[in-house]
Amino acid sequence: MPKDTLSVTDNRTGNSYEVPIQDGVIRAADLRQIKASPDDFGLMSYDPAFMNTASCRSAISYIDGEKGILRYRGYPIEQLADTSTFLETAYLLLHGELPSAAELDAWVYNITHHTIIHENIKKFIDGFHHDAHPMGVFVSTVAALSTFYPEAKRITDETSRTNQIFRLIAKTPTLAAFAHRHTVGMPFAYPDNDLSYTGNFLNMMFKATEVKYVPNPTLERALDVLFILHADHEQNCSTSAMRAVGSAHADPYSCMAAAAAALYGPLHGGANEEVLRMLREIGSKENIPAYIHRVKQGEVRLMGFGHRIYKNYDPRAKIIKHTADLVFDVTGKNPLIDIALELEHIALEDEYFVSRKLYPNVDFYSGIIYEAMHFPVDMFPVLFAIGRTPGWLAQWQEMLLDKEQKIARPRQVYVGSTVRDYMPIEKRT
Ligand code: CMC
Repeated sequence: MPKDTLSVTDNRTGNSYEVPIQDGVIRAADLRQIKASPDDFGLMSYDPAFMNTASCRSAISYIDGEKGILRYRGYPIEQLADTSTFLETAYLLLHGELPSAAELDAWVYNITHHTIIHENIKKFIDGFHHDAHPMGVFVSTVAALSTFYPEAKRITDETSRTNQIFRLIAKTPTLAAFAHRHTVGMPFAYPDNDLSYTGNFLNMMFKATEVKYVPNPTLERALDVLFILHADHEQNCSTSAMRAVGSAHADPYSCMAAAAAALYGPLHGGANEEVLRMLREIGSKENIPAYIHRVKQGEVRLMGFGHRIYKNYDPRAKIIKHTADLVFDVTGKNPLIDIALELEHIALEDEYFVSRKLYPNVDFYSGIIYEAMHFPVDMFPVLFAIGRTPGWLAQWQEMLLDKEQKIARPRQVYVGSTVRDYMPIEKRT
């Protein structure tokens, strides 16, 4: 009968150790018993960028990167995108189960009735420069919310946690839309509780002089699907930031500002913005081979391609491609789609991309849809952040309730100078 253990021999000492394997992993702390001498700290593992280190046990989202599978709480992303709504999916992520009809009604009611932001928040949005990037405004205003809800510090109080969860899911679209209206110099449009979550977001973004904004149902549903697709994605960079800051017991607004800041990076949620800029730079199908050549020379990256986990087609990109067709029936075709499709076609046949298993990721097609819906390019990462909010909160709560978790504090391998004496400035060469 094979044992679920790993036998290790330390060739420095000749000692052997047996380390348990559970769920396909060994505990890094089990390596600490392996010492070269009695005063040795014990063996550590070195894993820059956490390429092969699990930082938690999680029951929220599941990815099989080789097969291109994504599930939330066990439900395939394709089924959720087809039949669920963003708010129902948010409930699922946070509670672990799909809601009953009554639970869903209460959940939607609570989120709908927390969409208004304090008038003072408008004042500091007004203080931003006219061309402030909306993601910068978003990160700052999410952080600022913590000053309006000081009780959010009570992270062990379930009622307080629930209230902050309502507020964050409810207010992120308002903050996002207000950030946009500020940069384009339009008056803020207040939330309309008669509308759905995404319908109201479209209202706050695009309402002009009409008394009542009526969202196009196809675009409203498309945006809802895009939010579902972005809602969680296990221990990605921003989620890890959310958990790390949360592990210091900061309030959820501060944690989420940190997560959103991570998402702003062009290698993460900023990639959808970069894809659009790249497609515009390429400009026409004839220019694709020259661009691919530059990618292969290492001059630029093909944005929207490649993923740390997916070594197959990102299942979210497949759904987005289909959603794009529905959106274009309403908005007219975004001409960039033809460049994107051709780029994908050429890349997927090219040895460089095939051998590195580089496939389109979620960001490759999402920007083309957003642009067709008239979202400005610099709003793209903000849209990603709205969608990711329930996932960040579910991961934050799971971390807080996990008895094994402590303040996140990785080790390092020190490679600097050994001890040396301070040198007065006149003696330095
Ligand atoms: N274009 C060209 N080459 C690439 C790309 C790309 N987009 N992505 C990876 N490679 C190459 C890379 O140069 C390396 O080649 P080599 O082995 O010759 O050095 C190899 O593929 C492995 O790349 P890596 O950088 O070690 O992979 P990683 O897992 O550290 O990076 C990534 C993952 C997503 C940061 C990267 O693929 C990338 O920069 N993609 C473009 C940005 C992007 O689309 N980001 C959105 C990710 S999905 C949304 C999200 O979750 O944030």
